[in-house]
Amino acid sequence: MSFTVAIDGPAAAGKGTISKGVAAHFGFAHLDTGLLYRAVGRRTLEGMAPIAAAKALTAEELARGDLRTAEIAQSASKVAVIPEVRAALIDFQRSFACRAGGAVLDGRDIGTVICPNAEVKLFVTASSEVRAERRYLELSAKGADVTPDQVLTDVRERDVRDAERSTAPMKPADDAVLLDTSDLSIEDALAKAVAFIAEKLPATS
Ligand code: DC
Repeated sequence: MSFTVAIDGPAAAGKGTISKGVAAHFGFAHLDTGLLYRAVGRRTLEGMAPIAAAKALTAEELARGDLRTAEIAQSASKVAVIPEVRAALIDFQRSFACRAGGAVLDGRDIGTVICPNAEVKLFVTASSEVRAERRYLELSAKGADVTPDQVLTDVRERDVRDAERSTAPMKPADDAVLLDTSDLSIEDALAKAVAFIAEKLPATS
């Protein structure tokens, strides 16, 4: 049986942590689709053409080094605007979503484009200030040389680019449930997501 949970939303809203927690809770597989775009973004920074990089993407490339840097995030957001890059990544995401035993995919367009028939769709959001603060703490804990203001500017710039591109812009699906984590602890946000998904699971007898 396949059961797909689509979790979309802007950077640092908490979707990664919620997705991992949901996957662990229900025993579902988890795909952070942002990593696909980040891997293409990194290849582009290294001098490869973005469409060729997307077509040649491998599991080894996803596992190589740290993809969660501010520079790679910006590059990912830029390559994600290119329709051919997005098209090259669709099949992999859809096959992942259909695997037996359940799957959680998090990204920007999962509920709208990749898995419009997902059994559950969540759109996780938070104010840009809260998200920038979280991202700043995350990056500075890794020793990155960033300031809170820089991170806020980066987050806002990426929001605008991700939401305003013409192909698969970031937006809640019409049937998505909104989860604003601005004033929620991660435990509370995860508990809400788990409760919502539990209601949608087919009854077992
Ligand atoms: O989720 P993230 O911050 O790792 O994503 C990095 C960038 O990749 C994001 O700014 C836009 C792009 N992205 C996308 O366009 N579609 C997705 N499903 C996931 C990420």
